Amino acid sequence: MGQLEGRTAVVTGGSSGIGLATAVRLAADGAHVFITGRRKGELDEAVEIIGSATAVAGDISNPADLDRLYDAVRARGKGLDVLFANAASASFATLEETTEEHFDQTFGVNVRGTLFTVQKALPLLNEGASVILNSSVRADDGVEAFGAYSASKAALRSYARTWANELKGRGIRVNVVSPGTIDTPAIAGVVGAEKAEAIKAGFAARVPIGRMGTSAEVAAAVAFLASDQSSFIVGANLYLDGGEKQL
Ligand SMILES: NC(=O)c1ccc[n+]([C@@H]2O[C@H](COP(=O)([O-])OP(=O)(O)OC[C@H]3O[C@@H](n4cnc5c(N)ncnc54)[C@H](OP(=O)(O)O)[C@@H]3O)[C@@H](O)[C@H]2O)c1
Repeated sequence: MGQLEGRTAVVTGGSSGIGLATAVRLAADGAHVFITGRRKGELDEAVEIIGSATAVAGDISNPADLDRLYDAVRARGKGLDVLFANAASASFATLEETTEEHFDQTFGVNVRGTLFTVQKALPLLNEGASVILNSSVRADDGVEAFGAYSASKAALRSYARTWANELKGRGIRVNVVSPGTIDTPAIAGVVGAEKAEAIKAGFAARVPIGRMGTSAEVAAAVAFLASDQSSFIVGANLYLDGGEKQL
């Protein structure tokens, strides 16, 4: 029997990269996984890959879309045991280049969207549930032109401490994962497909173990935090970075 047998999970951004790999892993461990993302075609393809999954198309920065997601979870009648708040927006702008639109887009998805992703799940979360927020090692450094993204990820690390404290009385644990550079479609999305391979080689060279991480490696850590194996881990930040911020 899998470590998440009979559990219900939500993965935002479950149609690509880290979210898709995590949804696959949670389903392999026995959970039924609800996934959300804006592109319906990608979601439908992901459901085929994941198996025990339900897709609800939506944008996490739109509260009405989150209501539809959780209406679908509620209709299943088993509450919610695992929430991986993973969807995010990433794009470059230096301090000088930053516009109100760029700031609002980044914080609207990553901070406001994640807050309401978790807040709207509260009535459904079962005793013993696990909430995992996807931050980033960028919360700990100052990569040029990544200020809004990095600050938004630092906000999630902070929120997790407060939310873990507020929810501990219900037996709900909140933790954070901070991936380093992980090989996903997002990299080409941020830097452009033509530059992606050179940029990835540069990333790999900066990781102490000499390579980028895989989505499956992040998924394994999220599955651990989602399971009862991590029952004494509360408000923590688990780095998944090949040593990038550790050595
Ligand atoms: N890759 C890395 O090196 C790395 C490192 C550290 C942290 N992270 C974090 O890991 C998470 C996943 O990144 P990834 O690399 O796996 O990216 P990805 O492959 O581009 O996947 C992003 C997923 O999020 C969905 N999404 C994006 N904006 C959304 C929105 N507003 N509402 C709902 N869904 C949305 C996308 O679907 P749609 O586009 O169809 O909406 C897609 O399913 C992000 O939080 C990212 O910051 C990544």
